Amino acid sequence: MKPAVFVTRPLPAAVLDLLAAQAELRVHTEDTSPSSAEMIEACRNVEGVMVSGARLGREVIEPAVRLRAVSNVGVGYDNIDVAACTARRIPVTNTAGTLEETTADLAFALLMAAARRVAEGDRYVREHRWQRWEWGLLWGADVYRKTLGIYGFGHIGQAMARRGRGFAMRVLYTSRRRAAVEVERALEAQHVDPETLFRESDFLTLHVPLTPETHHLIGEHALGLMKPTAFLINTSRGKVVDEETLVRALEAHRIAGAGLDVFEQEPQVHPTLLSMPNVVLMPHVGSATAETRLRMARVAAQNLLALLDGRRPANVVNPEVYS
Ligand code: 8YV
Repeated sequence: MKPAVFVTRPLPAAVLDLLAAQAELRVHTEDTSPSSAEMIEACRNVEGVMVSGARLGREVIEPAVRLRAVSNVGVGYDNIDVAACTARRIPVTNTAGTLEETTADLAFALLMAAARRVAEGDRYVREHRWQRWEWGLLWGADVYRKTLGIYGFGHIGQAMARRGRGFAMRVLYTSRRRAAVEVERALEAQHVDPETLFRESDFLTLHVPLTPETHHLIGEHALGLMKPTAFLINTSRGKVVDEETLVRALEAHRIAGAGLDVFEQEPQVHPTLLSMPNVVLMPHVGSATAETRLRMARVAAQNLLALLDGRRPANVVNPEVYS
């Protein structure tokens, strides 16, 4: 008998077909996350769940007595109670390796847009405010040869370093574990402590997972050390930044601007941010390209099928379930 699987979102047909060949599929048919009650109901009798954007909390995992495989369509997995899965020896996978370059593209796009006031200029033209060429119109900040500070030096952080090198930037990074000397040399990236990173960056870009340690990593202390000409770029998780403190720092011109793809209470955005011209806002779309979303869905499906088949895929985030 085929194992029953719940997919929390209508993913591409080619991927659902792949799953349907080996599993009895149940798909949440709307492009929204099921509610907690719907998740509890849908997961109650399945062996596998493929999670896209939805929250898979303990209240869903515990009553799901047949559940033995969880596949997240994404790299960050703070939406899943991994500890609750591990307690049940349920392996959880992510889609590491599918979206890092794409997310770095968006982070760099936000950096460029914030520095050169791209969104502001677009609004200026559309609103017919452009009447004549002016010497002082929409001055921005240079990117070329500036200092790029990367907080978190995993695959996305390193992809940012490659982009920074393309702009002849001085690349600094901070990370829990220092990268191998060969990596540092190849990327011409210098490891520094967080304070140096905050103090010296012209563009500070965040690439850490959301964990208790990184919650509000950027708050009074970090913002207080940053240059008044510096920009903050966040494509990681909203809660890594203390949004209220960021708003106050922006209002007081303690930093120059920000490019944000993620927010503390998505899809709500702090109302003050909405009215700030020096902030570029995107609706959590770091991995949103046609190629990457398809790749993510396909890898997540392959991971789920491997788990259900008793095989161990490469990107299990709680490998301790195998020990
Ligand atoms: C996803 C992401 O859109 O991979 C991540 O960590 O933030 C995004 O690629 C998100 O996980 C929702 O599925």
